[in-house]
Amino acid sequence: MEVVHTIPELRAAVARTRQAGRSVGFVPTMGCLHEGHLSLIRRAKQESGFVVVSIFVNPTQFGPNEDFSKYPRTFEDDRRGCEEAGADLIFTPSAADFYPAGASTWVDVEGISAGLCGEFRPGHFRGVATVVAMLFNAVQADVAVFGRKDLQQLAVIRRMVRDLHFPVRILAHETIREPNGVAMSSRNRYLTAEQLTQATAIPAAMEAAKALVRTGVTDATRLQAAAQAVLAAQPALKPQYCEIVDLATMAPVTSTAGKSCAIAIACHLGATRLIDNADL
Ligand code: PAF
Repeated sequence: MEVVHTIPELRAAVARTRQAGRSVGFVPTMGCLHEGHLSLIRRAKQESGFVVVSIFVNPTQFGPNEDFSKYPRTFEDDRRGCEEAGADLIFTPSAADFYPAGASTWVDVEGISAGLCGEFRPGHFRGVATVVAMLFNAVQADVAVFGRKDLQQLAVIRRMVRDLHFPVRILAHETIREPNGVAMSSRNRYLTAEQLTQATAIPAAMEAAKALVRTGVTDATRLQAAAQAVLAAQPALKPQYCEIVDLATMAPVTSTAGKSCAIAIACHLGATRLIDNADL
């Protein structure tokens, strides 16, 4: 497995791969890899002959009061994980190289990025869409794999790819969970053992809504109330949002009847912000 830091090195490696007749898969990450990321890499490997993983903590998707500087950087562990999961190349540019000096171009995916996390993290999805567009241009993959856990991010990327005609197929991979049901996240490492247990209220809240759907309930207010009641029973959790949304638009719905919908939740637990979602 190769590790490269610059776009010319990356492009040369991808060109060699293409000359050898292999397709290219891509998994963008910010490092601090866990089993969820490794499953994305394995999935990319099933889909393509050569897998590029980017490790880049993207400054433009963090707000001024967010955890950019303390976001965990664990390159040696990440390198080992990538290799074991079957990656062929890690692209890990420096921010100074990757963003040209004075860069002033942004990709803003309107509408779909406005609610949910977008409401509480202004500028976040603009930073995500911009860096993913830059990464897509740098890697030129046939297929890119994203985790379902970041549901709104996935919707934003799909919309950007559609609107800007990026020649890449987007694959969504299921959320990988801790043994207690909490969605895996790089931020789980900030949680104490007690908090990791308290966080189980999030999947339990989603399950409460799903259980109602199984009995035929389609009224979104009732589904939301059932989930909110489970969250409220865990006082350590400070919910930011708990919404029933249309999967195509990420907009809240009044009823799930005849639509593909999901429940999406964000909560603070101490200083850590957790998100999760489930299809309904
Ligand atoms: O999901 C992430 O880790 C990041 O948002 C991504 C897609 C790598 C862009 O920086």
